[in-house]
Formats: sequence, C-alpha cells, structure tokens
Amino acid sequence: MNQTVVVLDFGGQYSRLIARRIRECRVYCEVLPWGTPLAEIRAKQPIGLVLSGGPDSVYAEGAPRVDAELFKLGIPVLGICYGCQLMVKTLGGTVSPAQEDGAREYGRTRTFFKTDTPLFSDLPAESISWMSHGDYVSRLPEGFRVFASTEHCPNAGVLNAEKRLYGLQFHPEVRHTEYGTQILRNFLFGICGAAGDWSLSGFSERMIRQIREQVGPGRVLLALSGGVDSSVASVLLSKAVGKQLVCVYVDHGFMRKNETEEICRYFSSLDLDFRMVDARERFLKALSGVRDPEQKRHIIGREFIQVFSDTAASLGRMEYLAQGTIYPDVIESGQTGGQTIKSHHNVGGLPETIGFKAIIEPLRLLFKDEVRALGRQLGVPERIVSRQPFPGPGLAIRVIGEVTQGKLQIVREADAVFREVLESRGLQTEIDQYFAVLTDMRTVGVMGDARTYSRTVALRAVCTDDFMTADFARIPYEALEEASRRIINEVSGVNRVVYDISSKPPATVEYE
Ligand code: XMP
Repeated sequence: MNQTVVVLDFGGQYSRLIARRIRECRVYCEVLPWGTPLAEIRAKQPIGLVLSGGPDSVYAEGAPRVDAELFKLGIPVLGICYGCQLMVKTLGGTVSPAQEDGAREYGRTRTFFKTDTPLFSDLPAESISWMSHGDYVSRLPEGFRVFASTEHCPNAGVLNAEKRLYGLQFHPEVRHTEYGTQILRNFLFGICGAAGDWSLSGFSERMIRQIREQVGPGRVLLALSGGVDSSVASVLLSKAVGKQLVCVYVDHGFMRKNETEEICRYFSSLDLDFRMVDARERFLKALSGVRDPEQKRHIIGREFIQVFSDTAASLGRMEYLAQGTIYPDVIESGQTGGQTIKSHHNVGGLPETIGFKAIIEPLRLLFKDEVRALGRQLGVPERIVSRQPFPGPGLAIRVIGEVTQGKLQIVREADAVFREVLESRGLQTEIDQYFAVLTDMRTVGVMGDARTYSRTVALRAVCTDDFMTADFARIPYEALEEASRRIINEVSGVNRVVYDISSKPPATVEYE
C-alpha cells in the first residue's frame, strides 16, 4: 500500500490543486470532505493531514469544523488559510476579521520567513506568497509560535513544533507562491517522512487484473468521446477484456477538423468492438432555430443520451457500463451547493435508465496528468493523450447563437488554422487551451476594391492551472498577425479576427 496523505476539503477553490501538487511530489493523496468521521480518516493510516482553505469564517454559524481529537493523533498537520484558522480556533487561539485591523490581504504578498523550522528548510528569509483572506490569527493557542509574517499580517505562519502542527495563512499550492512547492515538499518529506512511493508503474497491470476479475465473461459498454479520459479508459479496458468491450462513439457533428476521422482510424485498429454512430443530421435538426446557450446545451445532452441509449439497446445484453471518470470528477461530485454557471455536459453522460450490473471507472483515482502518463505507457497516440479539454457540446457552443452547417464549417476551418499557427511556433506548450469562436457579428470590410459584410472570428487562448480561473495568453503579435491574415485569406465568410483579452473570472473560457 502506498503512503497516504489526506486532504480535508473545507470547500476552498484550491483544494484539488493541493492534492495535485502532493501527487506531483509522488506522494499518494486523497481528498475527503471536511465532515469525514475521525475513524474513517484514521483507517487510511495517513502519514500527514492537510486542512484546505474554505470560503467561510470560522466564527460563522454552521461553518465547517473539525474534531479536536484530529490534532491529537500524532500525525503532522498542515492547515492552509481557513484550515490554519480552524486549527488555531479549535486549539484555543483567536481568529479575527482582518478588515478591522487592516490585515486583509489579497494577491501576491511579500512574506518573511523564519527558516529555523523544517517546513521552511532551504527557503530565503523573504519571498512572495499568495494571500486571499478576510480573517487572520490574532492570538496563538498555547504551545504555538510564529514563523512567517507579512507587513499586514503578523501571524502568517504558526506552528507547534513538538506536536508537528503547522498553519499557513497563505497558499503554498498556488504557483504565485514562489517557494510553495518547496514548502509542500518540506512538509511531505521533511516532516511526514514521505518516501515518494507513488508512481503509475504497475497501475495498469493491477487495474487490468482487477477488471478481468470483476467482469469475467461479461460485456462492457463505453461511451467514447475521443477525449483523453474516455480514450485512455477504453484502451486500458480493451487490454483487459478485448472484444468484450464495445465502444460507442456518437458523431454529433460538432468535432474539430479531422477529429472524427482520427478517432475512427485509431479505435478501429484496436482489439475492441468499436461502433461509430453518425448522428450529425439529427443534432443539427434538433438545434435548428435555437439561440439560447443553455437551451443548446440541454438539447445536445438530451439527444446524446437518446442516441446512445438506442444504440446500447441494439447491442444485446451489456452487464457493465465503463466511464472515464477521473479523480477531480470524484472530488467534485462529493461537494454540494454552488451555482450553475453553465451546465457542463460530457459526451459519455450516463444514461441512468439502462440497467447495468455495475459501473467500471478504472481511472477514478487519477488526476489528468496521471491519466496522460498512463495513456503514454499504454501506447495511446500523443495526439489523443495531449488533447486539450474540449466541451461535450463541441463546436456547437463555439458558434454563437443558432448553429448551421455553414457556420460550423467556418469555425472548424478557422480553428484549424489558429491551432496550426500556434503549434508551428511551438507555443502549444505554454498555453493550456486555444481555439476559435464564430461570433454572431457581421461587420463591414474591404477586400480588393469591394465592400464586404462578413463574419468576425474571435480567437481565445488561456493559461490556467485548473480552469476554475484562467488568464488570457500573452501570444506574440507576430503569431496573432499570421493567424488573422491566414484566417481571413483562407476561410471564406470571415473579414475580421479579434483576440479575446478577458480572463476568468469575470469571463469564462468558452463563450456559451
Ligand atoms: P468555462 O467555459 O466554464 O470552461 O470557463 C472551463 C473548462 O471547461 C470546459 N468545458 C466543458 N467541458 N463539458 C466539458 O467536458 C462541457 O460541457 C464544457 N463546457 C466547458 C472548457 O472547454 C474549459 O476547458
């Protein structure tokens, strides 16, 4: 069994990021909701505990809390932001609203470190950290001392060395904290005694054995979207059960240029039963006259489930449904509340009406980067493994307003040109997602001596860690110039190209 670190999630926007960073240090880690009973936490035999940040104030009514016994287990604890405040309050210290004392901080903040603690081993005396807090620790619990401070926050880091309890007001998991990774490494290796024993080697063999045992002679159905997760899941499953696996790929007609052809070519070459369903006409018809983004998403989701269910019904008895669920999906589904900004629909969305014996999710413990690494081990082509996120409804939500065949053609071509330009300049490694959008706007232009009245394409490129927040990418002007010139010359119906310089929030990555 791998050494395990448990992250208790208090609803902070960076909880998943903490877990990812820990896994990147090759230490296995699981995220549990804050209310998890102590016995369950202990049963995992964790070598360390991390208490995440969260949106509440520790004094708010109904705010998440922890059992004080947690701090008596003898396991090292790192409390981050809310987690730090909660630890302090639970152990008898005081937390105060920062605005009263002028200690409210947000963003990059100069921070001073006392480097005589193993948590700050190899750190300079001063550096930049990422702060985002309204409350702060105003009085320490007994046995604690301060080991980090900022201009406005005297207690930015507090510790009880004897009990190995550490609290940080800032976020070491966020890239803007210059020595954040070093701090996490110090916690894991210097304080928790981690060996760095988590790796993917042996994972696929174990998983293949497990799947074979579970499935026996049964048949497995998988909805393949062509994305990283469902692709890697299907290759893993095919290695386990071969032709007992049926992969259904529904072509809704909203894929990028040549994508459907590539998917069909690759999956037809594998040892599995691959079925492509051409439903392009049906989807386009269902969207005819529809302009509202949410309505478009719902219609596509509904049609997908219908087509998939019909296909499944025609395949005879299927005992198992396989899904490419990955760990962030698992963590997310454990959380409640939150506002629907967009109803995300993943092709592969589960048609719950079909009666399966069980659901198989071979990737449910892995983060995206780990799924990619596994895919490479399994020989999945790089083009699929390194694929960017692509929304389930595809290009239909990158055509603003009503979707037509003609508009799809324009956005598909413009998108292909934009990607080619960035990739030919090697920029793809610095940008996390980039694509073209067909806006719903026509403007006047001039081509040759003639007036044009044509469409505007928007280019979108973002840098992000987790897609919860994103910055627009600082693409060199020369690349933008080439993309603009080529799109206007090569894609008929376009006379203007704009580059989107909004970040998320307040914008979102996709337009609909
Ligand atoms: P937004 O637009 O919400 O996008 O800022 C954040 C990330 O999610 C992707 N996205 C989707 N992914 N199904 C998906 O699987 C969807 O319906 C969907 N909508 C948006 C988007 O491409 C970006 O990476």
